[in-house]
Order: sequence, then C-alpha cells, then structure tokens
Amino acid sequence: MGRDRMASSESTAAADVEVVTTITGIRRITDGHRTTGRSVGFVPTMGYLHDGHGSLMRAAAAGNDVVVASIFVNPLQFGPGEDLESYPRDLDRDRSLAAANGADVVFVPTAIEMYPLGEVLTTVSVAELSQRWDGESRPTHFAGVATVVSKLFNIVGSCRAYFGEKDFQQLAIIRRMVADLSMPVEVVGCPIIREPDGLAMSSRNVYLSAENRSAAIVLRRALDAGEQAIGGGETDPAAVARVMRSVVDDEPRARLDYVAVVDPATLKTPAVIGSETRLLIAAHLGATRLIDNCSVRSGPEPA
Ligand code: PAF
Repeated sequence: MGRDRMASSESTAAADVEVVTTITGIRRITDGHRTTGRSVGFVPTMGYLHDGHGSLMRAAAAGNDVVVASIFVNPLQFGPGEDLESYPRDLDRDRSLAAANGADVVFVPTAIEMYPLGEVLTTVSVAELSQRWDGESRPTHFAGVATVVSKLFNIVGSCRAYFGEKDFQQLAIIRRMVADLSMPVEVVGCPIIREPDGLAMSSRNVYLSAENRSAAIVLRRALDAGEQAIGGGETDPAAVARVMRSVVDDEPRARLDYVAVVDPATLKTPAVIGSETRLLIAAHLGATRLIDNCSVRSGPEPA
C-alpha cells in the first residue's frame, strides 16, 4: 500500500503492480479500501510514463494509503490530425515505473470500456478557461480532458488526485470543474520535473529529432528571459511577452504558438503584473508541439 511501500524503497522497486482493466474491478478495489478507512491517491495518465508521472505517484504514495494510477490514451482529447494513433505506448515499462514509484494498482481500460456506446453525447466543458491559450490551437482538447477526468473521478470515487503543473491550464480547468460540480476529490498540483538541461519532461519528447531535442530548450530559455524581465522591474505583460517571443524568434527550429503572461487563478492577462504571475509558452519543434510554464513572484516574499 502507498505509505507502507514508501517506507521501504527496496520492496517498492521489487514489487509489481496489479493491473485492472474493468470499471467494476477498479470500483470494487477503491470502494473496498475506503470502507476500511484507507485513503486513495489517484494519478490519471495517458501512459508512456516518465519521472514527471513518477513524481506524482510518489506524492500520492506519501499522502495516501493506496495509490491508483490510470493509463488511458483518451481519444476525446485529440483533435483531427493530432497524434492519437502514434501516441507512444509501452505497458510493460509503465507497469515497472508505476510499481517503482509506489503505485499499488494500475487501471488500464480499453476505449470500449470507457466509451461503451461509441459516440459520447454527455461531455463536460469548463467554459472560458478552456477557450484561451492552448484552447485556441486545440478547440476540443479541454472538453475531452474534462470529460475523461470526470469519468475517471466517477469510477475511482472519492480520492486525492495528482496532476503536474506542466499542464498548467489543464490543472486550472480540473480544479474549476471539481469546484463547480462539487466532486469529492481533492486536486493536488505537483511541480514540473525537468531534464538536466531544463526541458520539461513530456511523453511527447520522444518524437523530437536530436537537433530539435537540443533546440527544444528554447522554451525554458524564453521563460527564464520573461522571469528576468519581471525580476528587473518590468510590470507590463506585453513587454514581458515581447522579450519571451524574441528568444523563440532567434531559434530557427522553433515555431512559436503563443506566449502568455497570466494571473495563475484566472489565466487572464492582467493590466499590470502583480505579485504572482504565471508565464506560459507553446511552440512547435518540427511536428511536435511542446508546452511549458513557470511561476514568477515579484515584490516581497509572502509572510
Ligand atoms: O495529462 C494527461 O496525461 C491527460 O490529459 C489526462 C489528465 C490523463 C486525461 O487524459
């Protein structure tokens, strides 16, 4: 179980993880744990796990008695022409990584199990928050995410659910969905995990050619430049965005989608940069679209 596993890293590394493929099967397990007073930590994923997912599972294991991870490449959140068919998959590797990071059970449903009637007529859409930034380039994406996450919450039941801050807009949308719909879920946001050179970990990094992989660090460099501008006293969001954009413009392999300087709660650009800001960026390296973000505080540290 989560907390017990974390107590012994040796047994964690050696242990395997139970794989469950049906909704009734996973419900029986999570209901059973809650009935006996055990807390459930839940980590939804699309698989091809990396240490970013590992960090979510470790956080879930540290804070709960049982850790359930789901692996489901959700067709609803891919638009036409996106990488649904080619999205990387490796269940054996995912099982080992999940076990090594403290997961007890992995829920791996088929598309038929999740969407038994084929066409989905009931969807969840978090208006406004879903339309800007990533939502402009991927207009159906966040409704697909909100719909599958609400289904997963209905299936797993009351839990603490762990999401990475790398998908910052997704995290804001899920928090809002949980609040608006009174879901019995505590959403926990976890810090971005980066490669040694600063590139945010993502399952899609595997698509990058060697040249584009080296160039991809431009996202982090643009965020750093924005952070430095704010640190230097810049309070105009448009000026900070210009600084970030010029970093990407200097990298011939990168094609900018957007940079945004936003209030972390509303995801709107403020008139003047306040004490807490989130810088967001999305750019294409070849055919691969990457996103990244960072938090910037200005002014005195909160007491
Ligand atoms: O962040 C992801 O991997 C996915 O969007 C999620 C939350 C698992 C929903 O499919």
